[in-house]
Amino acid sequence: MTAKLKLLLVAGARPNFMKVAPLINCIKTQNLEHKWGGDQIECRLVHTGQHYDQKMSDIFFAELGIPAPDMNLGVGSGSHAVQTANVMIKFEPICEKEDPDWVVVVGDVNSTMACALVASKLGKKVAHVEAGLRSYDRTMPEEINRVVTDSVADLLLTPSEDAGLNLQKEGIPKARIKLVGNIMIDALIAKLDQARRSPRLKKLSLQPGRFAYVTLHRPSNVDNEASLRAIMAQLKCLSCRMPVVFPIHPRTRQRLSDFGIGASGDNGLHLLDPIGYLDSLCLTEKARLILTDSGGLQEESTFFRTPCLTLRPNTERPVTLTLGSNRLTSVERLTSDVDKLLEGAERIGQVPPLWDGHTAERTLEHLLAFSAK
Ligand code: UD1
Repeated sequence: MTAKLKLLLVAGARPNFMKVAPLINCIKTQNLEHKWGGDQIECRLVHTGQHYDQKMSDIFFAELGIPAPDMNLGVGSGSHAVQTANVMIKFEPICEKEDPDWVVVVGDVNSTMACALVASKLGKKVAHVEAGLRSYDRTMPEEINRVVTDSVADLLLTPSEDAGLNLQKEGIPKARIKLVGNIMIDALIAKLDQARRSPRLKKLSLQPGRFAYVTLHRPSNVDNEASLRAIMAQLKCLSCRMPVVFPIHPRTRQRLSDFGIGASGDNGLHLLDPIGYLDSLCLTEKARLILTDSGGLQEESTFFRTPCLTLRPNTERPVTLTLGSNRLTSVERLTSDVDKLLEGAERIGQVPPLWDGHTAERTLEHLLAFSAK
C-alpha cells in the first residue's frame, strides 16, 4: 500500500464524535474499494480527552463504531485557558512526530481551535469541517473558537451557503471555501435504523409525538442562578402539559448542585444522566417538540422536521431557522412559543440542500484535490 495522503483527525468533545465517525468510515470503505487506485488515505485519530466520561465519550465511540483513538491526550476539564493550553502543549509533539499532510479539525470546541493553531504554526495544512458558522456573538466561547480556527485553516469545508458567505466577508478567498454539506447528517443517516430500535421511549412509557425532549448546557443559560432557576420552573410547567425528557449535561448537573436547585424530577419531568447518540436521535425524531441550546440538536431536529425551540438570542446555524424547524425563544416567551408550536403541524420546515449523507465523500474529494495542488 502506498499512502497518498496522511490525515491527523482531531476529536475532543461530545459534539465532535458524530462528525469524525463519517470521515473514518468513508476512508475505510473507499480504501477497501480502491476508490483512489493503488493509493490509500491513512487516518490517525487523536482524542484530546476534553470529554472523558463514559457517558460523554466512550458510549459515542461504541455506538458510532469509531475505532479506539490512536492517541489520547487526556487533557480533561479546566478553565478555557487551561484546557486550550493543555491541548496545545500535548498536541504539538504529536503533530511533529506524525507529520501529516493535513490536520483535520471539526466543529467549534476548545480542542478544535487549539489543534488548528498548533498545526498551522508547525506549517501543517489545516482543514476545518463545519467552517464558516457565525452567531456574531462573542460572548459565546465557541464563536471565538470558530473565528480563530477559520482564520488559520487552509481548506474551509462548509455545511451551508450562509457559512461560505460569512467566510468571504472575512476576506477568505473563495477558492479555499468548499460547500460540502452537513457531516453530522451522514452519521445520523447511517445510524437511523439502529436509533429507531432504541428502547428509551418504552422504558419511559412515552408515546411518539406526545413528549418534549430538552437539552440545556450553554454557560449563558446554566451558569447563572436566576436563569437556571427560571428554566427549571418553566420545565416544571411544561411537564404538566406533556412528559418532558431532560438528560442533564455534567455542567448543568454541577450548576444545579452549586445553586441548591432541586433536580429530583417528578411525574412528568424525567431528569436523566446524559444519554447516548442512538437514544438521542430516537427522542429527536419522535418528540412533539424539542427545547435546546445545543447546535447539534438544532440541526438534527431540522433533519427530522421536528419543531424545535432554541433557548438562545441567536444561532450560528441560521439555515435551521430559514429552512428548518427551529425557532429562537427566551425564558420569558417560552410558554407562548410552546403554545404556538403545539397549534402547528407536527412536522415543519425542509431539509437544507446537501444534508444528504454524502458529506464525508465530498470532504475527502476536496482534500485529495487540494493536496494535488
Ligand atoms: C463543551 C464545548 C461546547 C459543547 C459541549 C458539548 C467548548 C468551549 N465547549 O462544553 O461547545 O457544546 O462541550 O457537551 O469547547 N465534564 C464531565 N465529564 C466530561 C466532560 C466534562 O463531568 O466528560 C464536566 C466538567 O465538570 C467540566 C464541565 O463538564 O468542567 C464542562 O466541560 P467543558 O469541556 O469545559 O465544556 P462543556 O460545557 O462540556
